[in-house]
Amino acid sequence: MQMSFERSENLAGVVAVPPDKSISHRAAILTSLCKGKSRIENYSPAADCSSTLRCLRKLDARLSWEGVTLLVEGRGENGFDQPGEPLDCGNSATTMRLLAGALVGDTVEVTLTGDESLTRRPMGRIIEPLALMGARVEAEGEDYRPPLRIKGGKLKGIVYSPSVVSAQVKSAILLAGLKADGSTTVNEKVQTRDHTERMLLAMGIKVLSAGLSVTVEPGMPEPSEFDIPGDFSSAAFLITAALVCAGSEITINAVGVNPSRTAFLDMLNRMGAEIEVKQEAPDAWEPRGEITVKHGPLTAIEVDADDVAKAIDEMPLLALLATQAEGRTEIRGADELRHKESDRLRGTVEGLSTMGASIEETPRGMVIEGPCALDGTAVSSQKDHRLAMMLAVAGLAAEGRTDVQDWEWTEISYPGFHEVLRGLGGRSWSEG
Ligand code: S3P
Repeated sequence: MQMSFERSENLAGVVAVPPDKSISHRAAILTSLCKGKSRIENYSPAADCSSTLRCLRKLDARLSWEGVTLLVEGRGENGFDQPGEPLDCGNSATTMRLLAGALVGDTVEVTLTGDESLTRRPMGRIIEPLALMGARVEAEGEDYRPPLRIKGGKLKGIVYSPSVVSAQVKSAILLAGLKADGSTTVNEKVQTRDHTERMLLAMGIKVLSAGLSVTVEPGMPEPSEFDIPGDFSSAAFLITAALVCAGSEITINAVGVNPSRTAFLDMLNRMGAEIEVKQEAPDAWEPRGEITVKHGPLTAIEVDADDVAKAIDEMPLLALLATQAEGRTEIRGADELRHKESDRLRGTVEGLSTMGASIEETPRGMVIEGPCALDGTAVSSQKDHRLAMMLAVAGLAAEGRTDVQDWEWTEISYPGFHEVLRGLGGRSWSEG
């Protein structure tokens, strides 16, 4: 399915974004481990989060809906039930990596698989630390690619410094640490999103975060109530739309503003963007707030590996913004983008250069000269939700018509994204 976009101005309105995907995955998995009943308000409707629920159901976690509230009756010390077939994680690496961490200390034998994109993604990064903990995880694919075969068993705590900067890797190790003998420590090179740590603490687990180091003690999480804030990474698409469409002003409310997620805003400030953040609950388990953004001139910045690690999902948007900023933007240390749902480095450069941007791929990043006019044309989403939505926003800033192919992949994180853009005054339609 293709979705079309045209140059739009004066986007305006106050909107909410879908509930946070990362926090939703964690809430479902952790409450399934508890003994007792938990409530999750605002569980994400994204296809990725449904993949997590589908897998948990196959493990016999008791999940039900009371209106829009997800009720979870955890398995407690009984552990999960042996599933009769492989668990399909769909397109979601978070589902696969976090579930692997949660399952290695159980007694079940499970195969985790996924779609074409997921079975191309690297799993050595979790297999190595989990194996050091004593876990039995084998990759059936070449070069440690999925499917993953897991045989649960006894684990021991470790101190581990991952070579890749990844919240999924950190989280898989911490989840395994819940069932290990002794404490488990992860030392990161750059702090990644800390949703797992915050949720474990809220569920009564001993977690000590000190600088770039986080230590978890074994234990069983307590049943809890969670209300998931809006997804900052979804809000980033609307923020970018306001910045590239002349005359726009958009407010996004009830969105998660956990500082380990908002490095994109810091980069936008460096570019000179006019953005206001009003914190609503700074002391909450996950802080939330209201973000208002106005269109205005932008200047180029230098983006280094630390910036990339802290805003990995927003890098395609940063590249688009750089095409509209005055000067030369260089993004370095971004090779991790090659291991996402698609090679996002290549897909970003390919999509934006097809639209006439002056953008070049380097082995570990990209160089963009701005400002430059974008021209509407047919562009490929590479079956990657974040590329599809970035190109849609580019289409709102481009002359003529932009047709984004394979639009249905946006369901992975932001169902109804084009309708939200339309509601704000964006010109978008689909044919047939
Ligand atoms: C996620 C972590 C990030 C991010 C992904 C969600 C998470 O991946 O790209 O969309 O929920 O922990 P990495 O940790 O592999 O960088």
